Amino acid sequence: MFPARLAFRAASSSLKVAAASARGLATEAAQPAVKAPRMKKFQIYRWNPDTPEKKPEMQTYEVDLSTTGPMVLDAILRIKNEQDSTLTFRRSCREGICGSCAMNINGRNTLACLCRVDQDLKEDVKIYPLPHMFVVRDLVPDLTQFYKQYKSIEPYLQRDSVPEDGRENLQSIEDRKKLDGLYECILCACCSTSCPSYWWNSAEYLGPAVLMQAFRWMIDSRDQAGAARRARLENSMSLYRCHTIMNCSRTCPKGLNPGLAIAKIKKSMALA
Ligand code: SF4
Ligand code: SF4
Ligand code: FES
Repeated sequence: MFPARLAFRAASSSLKVAAASARGLATEAAQPAVKAPRMKKFQIYRWNPDTPEKKPEMQTYEVDLSTTGPMVLDAILRIKNEQDSTLTFRRSCREGICGSCAMNINGRNTLACLCRVDQDLKEDVKIYPLPHMFVVRDLVPDLTQFYKQYKSIEPYLQRDSVPEDGRENLQSIEDRKKLDGLYECILCACCSTSCPSYWWNSAEYLGPAVLMQAFRWMIDSRDQAGAARRARLENSMSLYRCHTIMNCSRTCPKGLNPGLAIAKIKKSMALA
């Protein structure tokens, strides 16, 4: 009896030890594995209007890719939040909808929120503001002229008559389809600021983004101002500075084709 009780105690105590060590193992297993740091350098254009005597310069920051989201916007947000709150850039939606995070990343105009960070740690990421624009500060371009030009094409429905039922301007499914590839433009200005013609003539040439929106309204079956819209472009500068170089369509982060829209405007003007 006595030895049996001892044997039971010994077994029960070794079971407790086994359970405790299993708990220990489980706790260890529950610990998230610490990822090895993967440091990547970001060279970013800096310019501060409060110190105009200081020339623009590139500033280098290091970001650990193993603990940062995959997009360039994730990295620069992390730099701003954790390293340098003075770094200035626009962003809002972080999903390619608002168009505000447009910048030049590794030589290409694109949206920082849709641009993946190259995982090769040997290559630095170089970030500049959209090219050939006045700079407000750091990565923020002055879009005043761009929006002024957008306003000039009167980008809204214009009609002389109201619909018969006094309510809606109806459109057939086929006519609605004609707007596909045009209405999705988010006015990020990546295309216009990649266009050499726009760089040299932006005071008068409207540029691909604005011209594509002009075309969007010209072919809208509900709009009745097509003749006036075309007449506004009938001069040597507003439209015909486009030389079909197609940088615009190559760079559009939404996969749109403003170069083609411009070619269609020219064709419709020739046939009108
Ligand atoms: S056409 Fe593309 S690149 Fe140009 S403003 Fe629209 S979305 Fe941006
Ligand atoms: S196609 Fe026309 S608008 Fe587009 S980049 Fe070339 S010149 Fe500019
Ligand atoms: S943050 Fe809106 S498009 Fe990038």
